[in-house]
Amino acid sequence: MQEYKDEIGRLLEPHVKLTAARITELLEVPPEPQLGDLAFPCFSLAPVLKKSPAAIAEELSRKLSGQRGAFWEKAVSRGPYLNFFLDPVAFGRNTLARILKEKADYGRTNIGKGRAVVIDYSSPNIAKPFGIGHIRSTVIGHALYLIYQALGYRCIGVNHLGDWGTQFGKLIVAYRRWGNEAELLADPVNYLYRLYVKFHREAEEDQELEGEARLWFKKLEQGNPEACQYWSRFRQMSLDNYNQIYDLLGIKFEYYHGESHYNDLLDGVIRLVQEKGIARESEGALIVDLEPYGLPPAMLRKKDGATLYITRDIAAAIYRYETFNFARSLYVVGAEQKLHFQQLFKILELLGFPWAKDCVHIPFGLIRFKEGRMSTREGNIIFLEEVLQRAIAMAREIIEEKNPGLADKESAAIAVGLGAVRFGDLSNDRIKDVEFDWDKALDFSGETAAYIQYAHARICSILRKAEGAELTWSDDAAAHLLQEEERALVKILALLPEKVIASAEAYRPSILARYLIDVARGFNRFYHRCPVLGSDAALQRARLLLIDATRQVLANGLGLLGIAAPEEM
Ligand code: ARG
Repeated sequence: MQEYKDEIGRLLEPHVKLTAARITELLEVPPEPQLGDLAFPCFSLAPVLKKSPAAIAEELSRKLSGQRGAFWEKAVSRGPYLNFFLDPVAFGRNTLARILKEKADYGRTNIGKGRAVVIDYSSPNIAKPFGIGHIRSTVIGHALYLIYQALGYRCIGVNHLGDWGTQFGKLIVAYRRWGNEAELLADPVNYLYRLYVKFHREAEEDQELEGEARLWFKKLEQGNPEACQYWSRFRQMSLDNYNQIYDLLGIKFEYYHGESHYNDLLDGVIRLVQEKGIARESEGALIVDLEPYGLPPAMLRKKDGATLYITRDIAAAIYRYETFNFARSLYVVGAEQKLHFQQLFKILELLGFPWAKDCVHIPFGLIRFKEGRMSTREGNIIFLEEVLQRAIAMAREIIEEKNPGLADKESAAIAVGLGAVRFGDLSNDRIKDVEFDWDKALDFSGETAAYIQYAHARICSILRKAEGAELTWSDDAAAHLLQEEERALVKILALLPEKVIASAEAYRPSILARYLIDVARGFNRFYHRCPVLGSDAALQRARLLLIDATRQVLANGLGLLGIAAPEEM
């Protein structure tokens, strides 16, 4: 809507003591469409002009009467508001021509050109199954990746694997004590995970285990060949497993730089922190006091010399800035790590890095299943792979029932099943906890991916039936699209570009997800009232163009959420 707002700014500027830019900022969308398409509230002018807002609105409408812009038909005062009505023909022409011309590029811009965004997402922990808790990071992070890319940013997806830390000592001890090669090979990640759980169970009885694990981790840090061999083997086996999931989801990372990647930089970090005088020794450990900032102290080195998660994150942040010169560095990580990121960013600031302000934690709530919150320690976990396969199987059943004659049921089932999981996550405000409900996520008439995908497939089917119809835009088509539902649909379609920008700015793919529900709804309302095929030739043609533009918006929008838009389902 920006170009239409700008025009109002230009129309009003000569009549009020405000800049065009300020005017466009003030514009609001009226609560009812009968009230117009955009409203200018006159309250802020009242003290300046010493008149009531209503009198000002009234006067402005008189001044503007007879004047019209390229897109604005009229401006009418109502109470303290000056309501603008779009010229539906000019607006329809402009909007639809643009969508049908830009096609797959509609919604994309280059506002981020020349700037890099690092997106740290997914980041599972090695030798633990890819738990459902990581799915939110994966799905939200990937959507942000796609959205920022659509805005012309250079996106660098980093999978900050949890591939370092004392848990590797535990795993090595467990494997050396109880490990079985054949079982490991049969199902590596599951098996390693069971060993990890066993370690914790046994460690409750056997006090020596923890100490032994610390020793092995120490050996690993010192480059002991046996320890390193276990480590790299476990890591690779886990990665192979995660990659199957990423392949299924169509996700590729630029880098798999896990925590271990920064090992060689940690001494430098410790030195830097000491040089800057922000750290102090406390009982042999090295800590940074953050009390003046209302935060608990951060430990960067334990008394046995071992570094910590946050030490590696400091190294990673510096590395990322030096390597990618990012405009922003995003961390898509659960809300339970809020404190960690507050400490991290504060330390970067204390170290004097001006780019510390460009580091952003993108938190999200938990996914809850009936089993309650899942923790790998307790051995109670739902595997993402199982969740995805289950969603696909359920979609397969529904499609079998709804459309038994469909030629390629399998791709439709994959699109709908994966779409359900992704959208179920993305459509909610990310900070809220999500209760994943299978039936709801796959409801074709609910607020789901399937609902949007179904609208898309339906349009494709109408377009197939209209085979041979000329579908290039011509300006006269807009004059036929004046029914209320048609106008409403065009208005929704015009919003995609700003919704993409808003999603990026607020780091909320949910804005785009909710918008796509509106598009599908707008289409269904239209289709309910306005037959497409079989109406008179000019009208049919105009409506085919309208639904073709709708199809494009749905496909582009779903694409930015990482969700497929099948042509048939
Ligand atoms: N591996 C961590 C976890 O599962 C997430 C890492 C997030 N990224 C970071 N740079 N700290 O909790």
